[in-house]
Amino acid sequence: MKVEFYGHIRQYRNIQSEIDHNLKTVLESGQYVMGPMLKRFESELAAYHGSKFAVGVGNGTDAIWLTLMALGISQGDEVITHPNTFFATAEAIWIAGATVVFVDCDPQTKCIDPNKIESAITLKTKAIVPVHLYGQCADMKAIRRVADKHKLHVIEDNAQAIGAHGDGFKIGQLSDAATSSFIIQKNFGTFGDGGAVVTNNERIDAAIRKLRNHGSNQRNVHSFGFNSRLDDLHAGVLSAKLKHIDAWNDLRRKWAARYTAGLKSAKNFTLPSERKGYRHVYHLYVIETKKPEQRDAFLKVLNDAGIDAKTHYSIAIHQQPGFSWGKGAQIHGSVANAEQNAATCISLPMYPELTEQEVDYVVSKSLDWDKAQK
Ligand SMILES: Cc1ncc(COP(=O)(O)O)c(C=O)c1O
Repeated sequence: MKVEFYGHIRQYRNIQSEIDHNLKTVLESGQYVMGPMLKRFESELAAYHGSKFAVGVGNGTDAIWLTLMALGISQGDEVITHPNTFFATAEAIWIAGATVVFVDCDPQTKCIDPNKIESAITLKTKAIVPVHLYGQCADMKAIRRVADKHKLHVIEDNAQAIGAHGDGFKIGQLSDAATSSFIIQKNFGTFGDGGAVVTNNERIDAAIRKLRNHGSNQRNVHSFGFNSRLDDLHAGVLSAKLKHIDAWNDLRRKWAARYTAGLKSAKNFTLPSERKGYRHVYHLYVIETKKPEQRDAFLKVLNDAGIDAKTHYSIAIHQQPGFSWGKGAQIHGSVANAEQNAATCISLPMYPELTEQEVDYVVSKSLDWDKAQK
């Protein structure tokens, strides 16, 4: 049996007529960049989040640095995040010109540990970038409290958790802005790259609209800017998919529960958990081996059995070769939890279109390996 890591083609086939309809609408509109489909999708996305504004950009990395720039964050400023995220979180801070300050993650959720933030704050600190890692919200209430006390901006890196929420809070509600990635492998992905910024702040929205379009919101009138727009074909795909995102996330939750029920007796894994009152949308179902030296051997067993398991992310950002490439970076205190996560993580196949047989096959191969350990 083969179990793929992604189900892009299955998903396309399931809603092909809706996607094809929107693509045809765009193709026949004659407007492909900053056209009516982008406008429509932006208002649908804002409504989905219960936010005032959504602005489509080229990708999720640009969404972060455009937001930092819109907030005036640049060289000499410090931005706090954690090192066990996708590389782009830190990369975006560097692109904006600021210094990345890494603090440790929470050992359970793997999101930033709010208790580690305050001691990392200096006079240069301007913002915190929590990541809703693997599809579970960071503890935004605690992060907001620290941010308010020190008058810091908060930008939620929401590349992985559209449709998730916390205990009594929505994504985008307790921050200046939340950024999304629509690269195909995300819970809400297009057939290529895309991103967006969702905000209630009119100034952030207006600044990003200008920055993404060569510094222009009026024909022939420019200031310094970039080309980072979500094009209308992608907006059409996303507009069709947005109607299904809650149901797809429900399916991810169903497969996560099935993995957890199947694997809970294993002695060599730590399984993911959902915080009380939160909705985890399982962009990734990440288990950890009890010992770092077990990880690669277990991954090979799965891969050899036809299961496309992967690691997210097996090299923490501060452990990448050549770190920090001349860019401003600080590691504040121990980041042992983040390093442990990098050393032991394994992502099992996770997408809405999985089947019971596939999930059960992954569980049985994992249990076989677990039982064979001393
Ligand atoms: C946590 C996180 N931040 C940022 C990004 C960057 O998004 P993109 O690839 O669309 O630039 C990604 C995904 O790629 C991500 O997982």
